[in-house]
Amino acid sequence: MSPAIGIDDLAFATGSFRIDLAVLAARLGADPEKYYRGLGQSEMSVVAEDEDIVTMGAAAAQQILDRSGGAGVRTLMFATETGIDQSKAAGVYAHRLLGLGPNVRVVELKQACYSATAAMQFAVALVARDPSEKVLVIASDIARYQLDSAAEPTQGAGAVAFTVAANPALLELHPANGVYTDDVMDFWRPNHSTTAIVDGKSSITAYLDAVAGAFDDYLAHGGVPFEQIDRFCYHQPFTKMAVKAHRHLAARAGSELDPAALQAQIEPTMGYNRRIGNSYTASVYLALLALLDGDEDLTGKRVAIASYGSGAVAEFLTGTVADGYRAGLRRAENEERLTGRTPVDDAAYLALQRTAARPDPSNFETARQTPSPFRFGGVRQDQRVYEPTA
Ligand code: HMG
Repeated sequence: MSPAIGIDDLAFATGSFRIDLAVLAARLGADPEKYYRGLGQSEMSVVAEDEDIVTMGAAAAQQILDRSGGAGVRTLMFATETGIDQSKAAGVYAHRLLGLGPNVRVVELKQACYSATAAMQFAVALVARDPSEKVLVIASDIARYQLDSAAEPTQGAGAVAFTVAANPALLELHPANGVYTDDVMDFWRPNHSTTAIVDGKSSITAYLDAVAGAFDDYLAHGGVPFEQIDRFCYHQPFTKMAVKAHRHLAARAGSELDPAALQAQIEPTMGYNRRIGNSYTASVYLALLALLDGDEDLTGKRVAIASYGSGAVAEFLTGTVADGYRAGLRRAENEERLTGRTPVDDAAYLALQRTAARPDPSNFETARQTPSPFRFGGVRQDQRVYEPTA
């Protein structure tokens, strides 16, 4: 019998600063409750000058390698929509920082917030071909919108790293999956821009349509009915979006669960995203990590992953939480990672945002700010410089 394949380890990293959304509300003239309750967000991570998608992604992956080493890893997939180069994959920098050997293929994947799920499915196929292989997936992003826009409170920054392997320690993925693509202009970032362009209201409708389309396709390809799924991890650009999506799916499925029971199926997935903000490709896997790190024993439970990337592609799949999964978590360390971030006021946050849009992006040094194991030193003659922090 072929072995189960799925997520063997899962870790995250984020920006080393954080801003309370009440601080943003004061500048934007909004009631803080609009962000706390209306969007379901309390704060968001902000990256230091010498942090970016590579330093966050490598910091997440380092935790996995510290625990189990790189044996068996022959592929590193880097999912991002915060690309740092039009040609070279961000994962190649991470590969060096992590000290992975030369016999590893490295590639970058893009489709807005969705591509980490594509990476995971490609990884499953590689492991099915050779169950001795492990695939390292890194998903890392910095969400930036125009300052003073309605989207500004839905920024954030974060990375996850996970390994896909046979007989996984955390989540055994099921073969059934549903996919959905539709060419819509709800959110995009042209090459000349450091911030995304978004039609906020239509992006919510596009998300709901795509996730519903993916769920229908999941049912048509051997998926189980809505009632047989215990917990649902949605992409969370803001956590209230998961509430909207879950109600939408439940109504379409004719679910008889009351609102409190529906909320119980998603509430434990929101703890990290509520504090980190939108981390794009990493978001749905941060939802899974928050769920696994929670108080409830989920052994044997069926968990859904509903992945959405604007533009738009969605995928719906499920997995079973593995026996003994709790031994593979880092719950206390993850909490320290969040509480250890330094709070910034509006002036410091605005200065960091403005520094990110540099007048000469071909040549600059960054200030030493990050406590992360790796730092982005700047750009020298158009070449990005990454180095260990210590
Ligand atoms: P807005 O116009 O500021 O907010 O934009 P609103 O007026 O719609 O209010 C938001 C919620 O707060 C509403 O709740 C209000 O009722 C409530 P809802 O009716 O939706 O449940 N509210 C309050 N609640 C309590 N107390 C109050 C109060 N006042 C109002 N005093 C919007 C919100 C999300 C559109 C904006 O922030 C935005 O454009 N964000 C960026 C786009 C986005 O995140 N879209 C999500 C779907 S697309 C996606 O997920 C993909 C993405 O991650 C990108 C990718 O794939 O790469 C974005």
